[in-house]
Amino acid sequence: MVDTRTPPARQMDITRPAAARIYDAFLGGGHNFGVERSFAERIEQELPGIGAVYQENRAFLRRTVEFLLARGVRQFLDLGSGTPTIGHLHEVACRRTRDFRVLYVDNEPLTVAHSKPLLAGEPRADILRADCRDPASVLLAPETQDLLDLNEPVGLLMTSVLHFVPDSDDPLGLVEAYRDALVPGSYLVVSHLTGTRAPDAARTLTDFYAETSDPLHPRETSWIDKLFGDFEVLPPGATYLADWRPDPGQPTSATNRYHLLYGGVARKSGDTGIPVQSINGG
Ligand SMILES: C[S@@+](CC[C@H](N)C(=O)[O-])C[C@H]1O[C@@H](n2cnc3c(N)ncnc32)[C@H](O)[C@@H]1O
Repeated sequence: MVDTRTPPARQMDITRPAAARIYDAFLGGGHNFGVERSFAERIEQELPGIGAVYQENRAFLRRTVEFLLARGVRQFLDLGSGTPTIGHLHEVACRRTRDFRVLYVDNEPLTVAHSKPLLAGEPRADILRADCRDPASVLLAPETQDLLDLNEPVGLLMTSVLHFVPDSDDPLGLVEAYRDALVPGSYLVVSHLTGTRAPDAARTLTDFYAETSDPLHPRETSWIDKLFGDFEVLPPGATYLADWRPDPGQPTSATNRYHLLYGGVARKSGDTGIPVQSINGG
């Protein structure tokens, strides 16, 4: 049964930096405001070269999506998607196949409003305004049901979103609810902020984000490993992102300045999947 906790709808707040637009600013996109650009500049002054960490996350997303496409995955649920601009999931998929579907989910109202027109000409992708902390509101939404067939394997992405979920919202239980709702053959992709190897940098970043609409909650790598539950974590295992199947010639964590993002890809095996008809949204 899917957890039905309902967090209050997030309100629009353009007076404080928002994670979606900070990320967009670091990626060089055009969907951010002065408040995010000056925030990004201040972080850069304190943590020179930190922009590479944001780029590293995006490169990880690309590599994992290419990996799942090569394994036959054709439908994706991207939780905490941000604005689909630079190197987004459907752009990656488009380069490989015309046969795919992507549902983006974000709880930040302006991010969703900016995304709608960007996706208007793309029938294979849509965005849902919902809170990933409420699995039923995501999995049972008409947008999800229309675009995705949850009785077939799905690539579920939770990249750089769970570190915005506080412990009080039980992130481990939350991810378990999503894992339970997926059928065998589905995949879970996670990236998450950690201070295990670089506690000072993680603390500095967390202190900065305390003034935004999206406070950060870095976690130990041993905790992040638990997010995969009983899914089979695929080689090379959960790692610092730069070490996850790096492109030839690309830097690995051995040469990176910051070691802040950790994650991997796991697959649901066996016949324990719960058909979507049995998800209880009541
Ligand atoms: C750093 S961006 C990550 C974008 C994308 N997932 C990636 O890895 O490239 C994090 C996004 O998560 C969204 N977010 C944060 N908390 C969320 C929640 N509880 N439900 C849905 N989205 C959330 C933010 O609005 C933001 O757009």
